[in-house]
Amino acid sequence: MNSIIDDAKSWFAAASVRQTKMGHWIEEADLDWRFPIEMNPLLSHPAISRLEEERYRFLCAQLYHKYMHDICITETDVINKVALDIAYGRAAISFPDAIRTAAFSVVMDEAFHSYAARLFSFRIQYVTGVAPMFLPQTNALVEAMQFRGLEQVPPGLVSLLSCCISESTFTQEILVASRLEKYSQQFRMLMVDHLRDEGRHCSFFRKVLEFYWQAANDEMRNHVAEVLPHILEAYFDRSIEIEFEKVVLCEIGFSPSQADTILKEANRLQSNTSRVRNALEFLHSVRVCEHEKTGAQMARFMKERGVEIELH
Ligand SMILES: [Fe+2]
Ligand SMILES: [Fe+2]
Repeated sequence: MNSIIDDAKSWFAAASVRQTKMGHWIEEADLDWRFPIEMNPLLSHPAISRLEEERYRFLCAQLYHKYMHDICITETDVINKVALDIAYGRAAISFPDAIRTAAFSVVMDEAFHSYAARLFSFRIQYVTGVAPMFLPQTNALVEAMQFRGLEQVPPGLVSLLSCCISESTFTQEILVASRLEKYSQQFRMLMVDHLRDEGRHCSFFRKVLEFYWQAANDEMRNHVAEVLPHILEAYFDRSIEIEFEKVVLCEIGFSPSQADTILKEANRLQSNTSRVRNALEFLHSVRVCEHEKTGAQMARFMKERGVEIELH
C-alpha cells in the first residue's frame, strides 16, 4: 500500500499535466519553425542546406508535423494500450497492485503528451502556413509491437517488451532534444516538460520488465530470447521515415531519383548506434542478458549491427 501512496504523491507533485505553466507557448505569436538539424541528418545534406527559405520551411514544417504525429501514435496507440493491459490484468503476466495502479498515471501523462504534441503541430501550421501533407498511420514502434513471426510467443509479450524498450530509449532521445538551445524555445520547453514525465515512465517500465523477468519460467525466458532480436530489428528500422521524407522531397521539387540519392547519402550520416546502445544497456541493466540464450541473441544482434558495447 505504501508504494502506491508514494507513487501517487510523486505523480501529484511532478506530473506535467498538473503544472499550471504548461502550455504557455500556445498563444505566443512567434515560433521558430526550423527543425533541429541534430534530430534529422537529412537537414545537414548539402542539397538541403542550399534550399531557399520557402522550400526549407515547407520541409521543416513537415518534419515537425511528422515528429509530433509520431509522439501521438506512440503515446496513445502503443504505450497507453500496454499500460491499460497492465492496469486491467490483461498483460503477458499479472502484475502487483502497485504496478497496476501506477499504470493509470502513465495513461494520463501520455494522453497529455499527445494533446500537447498535436497543439504544437497546429502552432507550426499557424506560423508557417504549411499543413501536414500526409501522416503515416504507423511507425517503427507499432511495427515492432505487431511482430507475429513466432507462433509460440504470445502477442502480449511482444507488446510488453516493445513498450519497455521504447520507453527506455525515448527518454534518452528527448533528453537530447530538451538541450537544443539554438531552435524554438517553445519546442525545447515542450521537450523539457515531456522529459519530466518520461523519467518516471522509464523507471515504471524498468519495474515492469524486472517483475516479468523474475516471475518468468524457463519457457517464458526463452520466448524473450527468441523475440527480442525481431523487436529490435523492427524498432530500429527507418524505412517508414525514409518513405515519408521521399514524398516531401518530391513535393519540394526533387525528382524521385534525386530524392533517393539525397536520402541514401543522408542516411549514411544517420547512426542508430546510440539508440541501439541505450536499448541494450537497458536490457542488460534489467539482467535479461544474463540468461544464456538471451545474452547470445543480443551479442549476435550487436555483432550484426557493428555495435560494440562494454556491458558490465
Ligand atoms: Fe510521453
Ligand atoms: Fe512515456
